[in-house]
Amino acid sequence: METTRTIADVRRVIGTPRAAGRSVGFVPTMGALHAGHAALIDRARAETGCVVVSIFVNPTQFGPGEDYDSYPRCEREDLAVCEAHGADVVFAPSVEEMYPRRSLTTVHVDRLSETLCGADRPGHFDGVCTVVAKLLNIVAPDRAYFGAKDYQQATILRRMVSDLNVPVELVVCPTVREPDGLAVSSRNRYLSAEQRRQAPALHAALQQAAAMIRRDAPPAETVIEAVRAALADGAPDGTIDYVRVVDPETLEDVQRTDRPVVIALAVRLGSARLIDNLRVDPPAGAS
Ligand code: PAF
Repeated sequence: METTRTIADVRRVIGTPRAAGRSVGFVPTMGALHAGHAALIDRARAETGCVVVSIFVNPTQFGPGEDYDSYPRCEREDLAVCEAHGADVVFAPSVEEMYPRRSLTTVHVDRLSETLCGADRPGHFDGVCTVVAKLLNIVAPDRAYFGAKDYQQATILRRMVSDLNVPVELVVCPTVREPDGLAVSSRNRYLSAEQRRQAPALHAALQQAAAMIRRDAPPAETVIEAVRAALADGAPDGTIDYVRVVDPETLEDVQRTDRPVVIALAVRLGSARLIDNLRVDPPAGAS
């Protein structure tokens, strides 16, 4: 495994396998790698001939007062995870390498970026889209791998890639969960023991809601009320940022649940802002 720090270097290193006809799989990360990232690397390893992982805590996707400074940075452990899961190349640039001067260009995906987490974190998805566009231009992968936990991020990036004709296939992989259902996340380490005990209530509430939809397809409002009640019960220390039932493509609120929907939520537990979601498809035969 080779660790590269500069754009010129990562391009040079990837050039050799590419010239030999190997496809390139790319897993962009901000480090603090966990089982979710490992699953993305495994999938890239299984599907492509050269696996590239980037580790870059991107300052432009953090808002004022967010956790950019305290975001966990543990490169030695991250490199060990990359190596253990068979990555060929790690790209771990400095902020100066990625942003040598004030950029005058921002990639903004309209509408999709302003709802859900985008409403609470203005500019966040512009930072994500711009850095991912830069990374895709640097690595030029055949496939890029993202987790379904960040459903909105994946939806926005898919649209960006389509609108800008970026020649890459986005692969969205299932959310990896702890045995009690909590979606694995780098930010779970911010939870106290008591908050960690309450955190699985997010997934439990989503599952209950999914069962309700599959059974009766009630109005979205009823589903949202049920999720809020389950969260109040299971995670009483949490503050709900949002609970929404949305169209899987447009991310717009829906009223009816007798068609595919995504239930998405964000809850603050102490200093951790946890997000989770579940896509629910009506049972086959229902209309
Ligand atoms: O999902 C993340 O970790 C980040 O948003 C990403 C895609 C690596 C961009 O910085």
